[in-house]
Amino acid sequence: MTDISHQLHRDAELPDSRISDSQLSDSPVTISSTNSTDGFDWSDEEYKNFSREIQLLKHEYHKSELFSDESLIKLLDDYPRTWLQCYTMGTNPENHNEWTPVHIAESNGTEIMQALKKGRIWINAVNIDKYDKHYGKLIEEMYTKISANCPHIHNLRNAFNALLISSPGIQVYYHLDTDPNMLWHIRGVKKFWVYPARDKRFTPQNYIEEIVAQERHENMPYQSWYDDHAYSVSLEEGQAVSWPQHSPHRVENVTVNVSLTSSYESSESRRLVGVHGANYYFLKKLGIKNRPTNTQGVVPALKSFSYYVCNKLSLLKKGSRTSTYVSDIKVDANSETGLSKMKIASRTAFSYIDE
Ligand SMILES: [Fe+2]
Repeated sequence: MTDISHQLHRDAELPDSRISDSQLSDSPVTISSTNSTDGFDWSDEEYKNFSREIQLLKHEYHKSELFSDESLIKLLDDYPRTWLQCYTMGTNPENHNEWTPVHIAESNGTEIMQALKKGRIWINAVNIDKYDKHYGKLIEEMYTKISANCPHIHNLRNAFNALLISSPGIQVYYHLDTDPNMLWHIRGVKKFWVYPARDKRFTPQNYIEEIVAQERHENMPYQSWYDDHAYSVSLEEGQAVSWPQHSPHRVENVTVNVSLTSSYESSESRRLVGVHGANYYFLKKLGIKNRPTNTQGVVPALKSFSYYVCNKLSLLKKGSRTSTYVSDIKVDANSETGLSKMKIASRTAFSYIDE
């Protein structure tokens, strides 16, 4: 959904970085009561428009025991702390600088859920598919089904995924993710806005380039009038939203929420990222102000190829955002706000994800 997701995704692009089935957690979580292969049944039209248009879709994953409070508490008890991100934030959607990391590593699942229900907390359990094989199977089957029914998307494969658990009344600021992703809403009610993809009124081109290069956080400047141009929905359990790659979006929770964010990569999505990467590292450095973003033809193919080769050879200087996740706030189930202040600020456990 946000933040270090595309660094993780970048790792996940490489076949040899994938965790083998035998390495996956044999989770204590109860196996789903839903046949995840039948987790959704979309129309031909919905598959045809997938990734091309903003769509409100239906699914059945909310019926799975994988997302019950009991399952979530067990999951949070054991979840690797470098993969468990926690944030708090303010109430003004125009002030994304109030997005603040929170220490969560010392709390167990019960304490986290208690704090979350009374506080202002957003939790990303990143790499959920790699940690727990039951969630992994569900997500793999999800994208196998989408791939089989979407011939306009080539070489589609499941990429970065995270389980999102969040407090009532909190928000996720206006932001943009590098890879094509979507939101599967599982429990609770949240308001969701999606804005037109790569529309320079809402997303200057250099923002996308800088997000690809990790020189900029995914959160972006936002003004309330953008909402006049957004698709908005009050999401309930069993609904999902999908959108074209690089569509900015934001969230305001009504109740406690559980959702799953999933992303994929494909020949088309990789080309788009590659073109923006090449624009940032090659064309911008040459002082070229009008940098083309088209993806069809020989030149875009060469741009994208050059970007990925240089990236693979570690020739591109990437920004490092994770080491800045220093905080003096921690999850505290005994506090009225679910949070408490620490004496000294220090790096959160999830800031060490790349080290
Ligand atoms: Fe997102």
